[in-house]
Amino acid sequence: MSQVLEYSEKVMDHFTNPRNVGEIEDAAGVGTVGNAKCGDIMRMYLDIEDNVVKDAKFKTFGCGAAVATSSMATELVIGKTVEEALKVTNKAVMEALDGLPPVKVHCSLLAEEAIHAALWDYAEKNGIKIEGLKPPVTDIEETEEFYEMEK
Ligand code: FES
Repeated sequence: MSQVLEYSEKVMDHFTNPRNVGEIEDAAGVGTVGNAKCGDIMRMYLDIEDNVVKDAKFKTFGCGAAVATSSMATELVIGKTVEEALKVTNKAVMEALDGLPPVKVHCSLLAEEAIHAALWDYAEKNGIKIEGLKPPVTDIEETEEFYEMEK
């Protein structure tokens, strides 16, 4: 029999009542990442003005943990500078959600990579370089972090 996963109250809250769902028209940056293994896809839209993330929205075709991590990720990046938003890691998203079951940790990586992909798009469109930002991946399995998780 399959095991029922335990989720924190915050995960359940962000899953059942996700914040910032939708899209931003003419967004400053848009990033889409997926995970070929589970088939989940996340798209992140960022509205950036004067180097500050003014708004963030997302669309996630995925599991409940992916929806909750996308929702929390948007909350964490809004109001941050581009450099600060880059430092919003999957661990920070997970901590803000009071944790995730081990088999769902990769869902939070989708959120981190979606932010990075949107920031990359913003940088490309504006011909700027964001220190420490690596080219985006289309599948999170291409990241070192995912490789570390699977070990
Ligand atoms: Fe893959 Fe959640 S199961 S993102």
